[in-house]
Amino acid sequence: MKKLVIASNNKGKIAEIAEILGGHFEVVSMKEAGLEVDIEETGTTFEQNAIIKAKACFERTGLPSLADDSGLCVDGLDGAPGVDSAVYAQSKDAHYSQLTSDQNIDLLLSNLKNIKDRSAKFVCVMVLFDGTRIISGYGETHGKILSERVGAGGFGYDPIFWSDDLEQSFALATAKDKNKVSHRRRALDDLLKHYQNS
Ligand code: IMP
Repeated sequence: MKKLVIASNNKGKIAEIAEILGGHFEVVSMKEAGLEVDIEETGTTFEQNAIIKAKACFERTGLPSLADDSGLCVDGLDGAPGVDSAVYAQSKDAHYSQLTSDQNIDLLLSNLKNIKDRSAKFVCVMVLFDGTRIISGYGETHGKILSERVGAGGFGYDPIFWSDDLEQSFALATAKDKNKVSHRRRALDDLLKHYQNS
């Protein structure tokens, strides 16, 4: 079975991807492939960032590499925080590592205070680069932004995201249920379809 490096240091993400792609690839983490770096996301779109990460990982390991980029897009805020989801509350003098999901959530709730349209989606782009081909997959999952945190599970914006599919906050859903409808799941399914047809 072909080896595939996941260009991420997030254990949860790697496990989720391994579960979905396990029948097709021998999935290894960057660490298992001997790579211990954080690849900087300098793109302005989800796809650009995923390509940057997949290519950087391939260049350093020589192995087919898979990268994702994801974020939350809120309709009433013209798609913000979007590609800036991880660093939404970052002020000019704050360092990335000091930022917490709580600060991002607080800022989002405050920016939505006087806005009626709270519909939102999580978006994910997955990119596989094998040295010649770039194969990508796209996925989204829909819902709305709650007015306060509900549930303590998940990560990032999960406590304020009401999932239309699960009819509950992502932070109350089990990992198994979330993984069935998540933007990452859908992007991986889409990528697999393109991979099998390529
Ligand atoms: P990245 O794909 O690791 O760059 O994630 C970007 C940011 O989007 C994360 O730091 C989270 O804030 C947010 N995000 C992406 N996916 C999810 C999710 O499934 N739940 C909650 N937040 C998410």
